[in-house]
Amino acid sequence: MGIITVKNLDFSYDNETMAVHGVSFSIEKGSYTTIVGHNGSGKSTIAKLLLGLLEKKSGEIFIDDLPLTQENLQKIRSKIGIVFQNPDNQFIGSTVRDDIAFGLENHQVPQQEMDPIIDEFAKKVKMTEFLNSEPIKLSGGQKQRVAIAGVLAMKPEILIFDEATSMLDPQGKDEIKKVIHDLHEDSTITIISITHDIEEVAKSDDVIVMDKGKVVLTGKPEEILLKEKQLISMKLDIPFSLKLQKALKTNGIKIKETITMEGLVDELCQYASKK
Ligand SMILES: Nc1ncnc2c1ncn2[C@@H]1O[C@H](COP(=O)(O)OP(=O)(O)O)[C@@H](O)[C@H]1O
Ligand SMILES: [Mg+2]
Repeated sequence: MGIITVKNLDFSYDNETMAVHGVSFSIEKGSYTTIVGHNGSGKSTIAKLLLGLLEKKSGEIFIDDLPLTQENLQKIRSKIGIVFQNPDNQFIGSTVRDDIAFGLENHQVPQQEMDPIIDEFAKKVKMTEFLNSEPIKLSGGQKQRVAIAGVLAMKPEILIFDEATSMLDPQGKDEIKKVIHDLHEDSTITIISITHDIEEVAKSDDVIVMDKGKVVLTGKPEEILLKEKQLISMKLDIPFSLKLQKALKTNGIKIKETITMEGLVDELCQYASKK
């Protein structure tokens, strides 16, 4: 059993249409899983169901072997952190330090123990020099880094990013992706990245593809990304690097298949050096 196991989950907002229907999946402890799907496919609903923010209609949810019940709710919530899409909606403090402190205060961490924890996690997201700054003065990427530090300070076992980079400019997106990947490499935390952007799939361990409230594909990135027709039928397309490889192949340039942009650049450099 994975750290998260979901069986036959159903949920409806209006008792007519199913926002989530017959969803089953399992997420391995310590893995980096991407849940990808077009807008409205039910991804955020799944995240809210996992946190017990919405109540399932039927099915089962297990977090770390605990069934998600009213009784276990607090225990389960303490295991999961979530970072949302809009960094401006997650700010409450007048300084970055206050902001990271917010969750700790809620957990009644004594004042004198707070500072070292705040410093540790501000450092992790490279925001130490901004600890006394006002959050509103930060860039989108910096705001999301603060939000991540605040969530990490609660020491969750599972961290969910729900479109956490989608409102950021390209630089902010890159900053956050790097923070997330570094986190995954340096710790045993389980990461779930929710996105509608197929470009984000390549670097994960496992992928869950959702369409119209259902899980339609699960597998490794290389298995998923090669199902071009199916992805396009779900309005997901394939990554730019794969499109470029196809175009190169059509023009007689044969390189080893790779799913990442970095891999493609490597292959092209090797190809060029042989010429
Ligand atoms: N608060 C809500 N009330 C009613 N319907 C909702 C609500 N939130 C989402 N939905 C509907 O549920 C479906 C799944 O939405 P959502 O989980 O937000 O999708 P995603 O995160 O993949 O974009 C969509 O059809 C959406 O319109
Ligand atoms: Mg969503």
